Amino acid sequence: MINPRLAQDLNEYPFARLNELISDLPAPKNPIIMSVGEPQGPVPQFARDIVARDLSLSNKYPPNQGTPELCQAIAGWLTRRYGLPEGLVQWNRHVLPLAGSKEGVYNIATVALPPEKNGRKPAVLIPNPFYQAYLGGAVLAGGETVFLNTNAENGFLPDFDAVPLETWKRTALVYLCSPGNPQGASASIPYIQKLIERCRRHDAILALDECYAEIYNDKAPSGGLQAAVAMDETGGKDPFANLVVFHSLSKRSNAAGLRSGFAAGDPKIIAMLLRWKTYGGPQVPLAIQNAAAALWGEESHVAAIRGEYQARFQAAKSILHNKGGFFMPDGGFFLWLDVGDGEKAARTLWAEGGIKVLPGGYVSREVDGINPGQRYIRVALVQDLDTTRRALTRMSELL
Ligand SMILES: Cc1ncc(COP(=O)(O)O)c(C=O)c1O
Repeated sequence: MINPRLAQDLNEYPFARLNELISDLPAPKNPIIMSVGEPQGPVPQFARDIVARDLSLSNKYPPNQGTPELCQAIAGWLTRRYGLPEGLVQWNRHVLPLAGSKEGVYNIATVALPPEKNGRKPAVLIPNPFYQAYLGGAVLAGGETVFLNTNAENGFLPDFDAVPLETWKRTALVYLCSPGNPQGASASIPYIQKLIERCRRHDAILALDECYAEIYNDKAPSGGLQAAVAMDETGGKDPFANLVVFHSLSKRSNAAGLRSGFAAGDPKIIAMLLRWKTYGGPQVPLAIQNAAAALWGEESHVAAIRGEYQARFQAAKSILHNKGGFFMPDGGFFLWLDVGDGEKAARTLWAEGGIKVLPGGYVSREVDGINPGQRYIRVALVQDLDTTRRALTRMSELL
């Protein structure tokens, strides 16, 4: 027998659905791939050198909890990036290196969900559209998913005030992505504080996915740890109580294939993520932990990468004008274009433009008869500037 939660409750992953959607169309000669959020720029040379140098350490099992050097580099980066009080983030309590942030956002559901909460199946609040690992984690850990539609009217951020008290009472886990994938909206400090306060009141965990935190247009997005520190009341608990944030080198450092990220926050949550990891999680190879420590300690490559995304967004602005309701996101690297019918547009762009984009409805669910992504396409600006310009010009002609 196969677990029906896996076989029936989860769709095929969006990229498999996309391949199926366009399977009857002839493959273009030189396709431009803008469907996957995989940065195409190079991994910084200094990180590659460290990996090459330290591969000889591969005869050892790497520590599950991360090397002290990596945990210290992460704690130092968090402190600098978010202006946190020196020494507040303790590298051996508040931080856990991961094999990419996907590991964390998926497994936090296993950490957070009891079999029942207040006599009912525990609820998991998920913004809609959303990163698919949230759904996988919630469903396989036995949660009931509650999707909160995000759209232009609510600034692409879920309206947690609209969640009924009865639902809050059985909520065990809340996902938020800031800046969001796909729409790039960044949550303000008061918004995050209100959510933390609510999660504490209802004994829920807030899983704040900040993997796009370093890719932004004007202003560096605020962070969850920063919001928590600025709150007055923790009731004597850890300043990060009920909160865990997730970060990644995949987008920040063009290093999706290194599989390196981390969780940080409430020490109780970090300890349970580590317990899970010691039973079944992937360890991060030592060579990669060493490269990751160097990457978190270096900012000039990040500024250069961010500048490249900003140039691509400026190109998109001038090429698309108002087409597809173009708007400049706070952060992340996606265009979220209203094309009326995302599947139809994805087929046209592939067949006539050789451009692969993702139908928005593949990263969202239908709620009360509405799929908030159905009208959209998601376009990842991960190609170099020339390729991006070429693709967007063609897109503008075809849309
Ligand atoms: C919102 C979001 N969270 C998490 C991830 C996982 O990234 P990684 O596991 O490479 O850190 C992604 C990857 O695309 C993402 O878009």
